[in-house]
Amino acid sequence: MKTKDIVILGGTGFVGGHLAHRLAAEGHRLRLLTRDPERRRDLRVLPTAELIAADVHDPRELVRHMEGADAVINLVGILNERGDSGTGFRRVHVELAEKVVRAMTETGVRRLLHMSALNADAQHGPSHYLRTKGQAEDLVHAAAGLKVTSFRPSVIFGPGDSFFTRFARLLRLAPGIFPLAMGRARFAPVYVEDVVHCYATALADPHTIGRRYDLCGPRVYTLKELVEFTARVIGVRRKVISLGPVLSALQANVLEYVPGKPFSRDNYRSLQVDAVCREPFPDIFGITPQGIEAVVPQYLGGRRMRARYQEFRRLARHEA
Ligand SMILES: NC(=O)c1ccc[n+]([C@@H]2O[C@H](COP(=O)([O-])OP(=O)(O)OC[C@H]3O[C@@H](n4cnc5c(N)ncnc54)[C@H](OP(=O)(O)O)[C@@H]3O)[C@@H](O)[C@H]2O)c1
Repeated sequence: MKTKDIVILGGTGFVGGHLAHRLAAEGHRLRLLTRDPERRRDLRVLPTAELIAADVHDPRELVRHMEGADAVINLVGILNERGDSGTGFRRVHVELAEKVVRAMTETGVRRLLHMSALNADAQHGPSHYLRTKGQAEDLVHAAAGLKVTSFRPSVIFGPGDSFFTRFARLLRLAPGIFPLAMGRARFAPVYVEDVVHCYATALADPHTIGRRYDLCGPRVYTLKELVEFTARVIGVRRKVISLGPVLSALQANVLEYVPGKPFSRDNYRSLQVDAVCREPFPDIFGITPQGIEAVVPQYLGGRRMRARYQEFRRLARHEA
């Protein structure tokens, strides 16, 4: 495969870190733009990656760092903002996407891989998060002269995720009963290595240009099932009680004001639509996506749980 110079925005995050490792292993030269290069020292060891302190919201900085690149990957996104005005979401999702398009046009970089989200919809998204994700996705695909592929994953899991890791932390803190907002909401969690595989493949495959790919894992679970699974993996006994809509909304109203915003009103609105795919995993990427059962215990479980799952995987391979 031809080595490429790739600018990555959001390359220091959960998905970005995994993607940087994968693309560096393929020999690509990476420019990882970040507000804080110290945050991910582990990425410094990648021989072809450069962590660059940059304000990605400054159009001149974007142009400077994109000069001479072959492709841009924009992974920047936020799940919550301060207050509930929608302005943070607009700035980070929509205005940044506009600036990326402008900088690419100015520098003549044409290939863009854009991170959206499942159910992103500029008009009908139930939350600021999903509407602004939809607006950004539409605008990058409408940009004249760019070759764009966007990805719309359900919740993503893997080492360093915030989904299972956060529930594991909350479960450990809970006294015995775990009241869960929107426990009936459905997800099809997709493995981060499968997501980064799609990015790596798309970079090399022009058939993906102009396409928007929904990405889901192999099985659908309710949120309650996922939290119960997390409790089993970390070995704690908790009774998970799924709250109805009124209590869920109330919980969102309260937790919105807790430091770190573990759950917000906008998150509550996002959960009004199930994060599940209508189509199977896109054939073009040539993989069968992995499920949570084989992976999550590897990074969340204790040593005994990891050993049990490794044995389970060994036997499964043997039988296959
Ligand atoms: N994780 C999931 O389950 C999931 C599911 C669907 C879609 N997505 C989308 O996938 C993308 C990556 O998700 P992730 O879980 O890897 O996120 P993450 O770990 O929170 O990383 C977000 C990245 O965005 C950058 N960033 C955040 N706020 C910013 C701001 N105000 N200005 C500039 N940069 C900012 C951060 O860069 P620095 O702090 O280094 O500057 C960081 O590298 C996001 O667009 C997210 O919406 C994620």
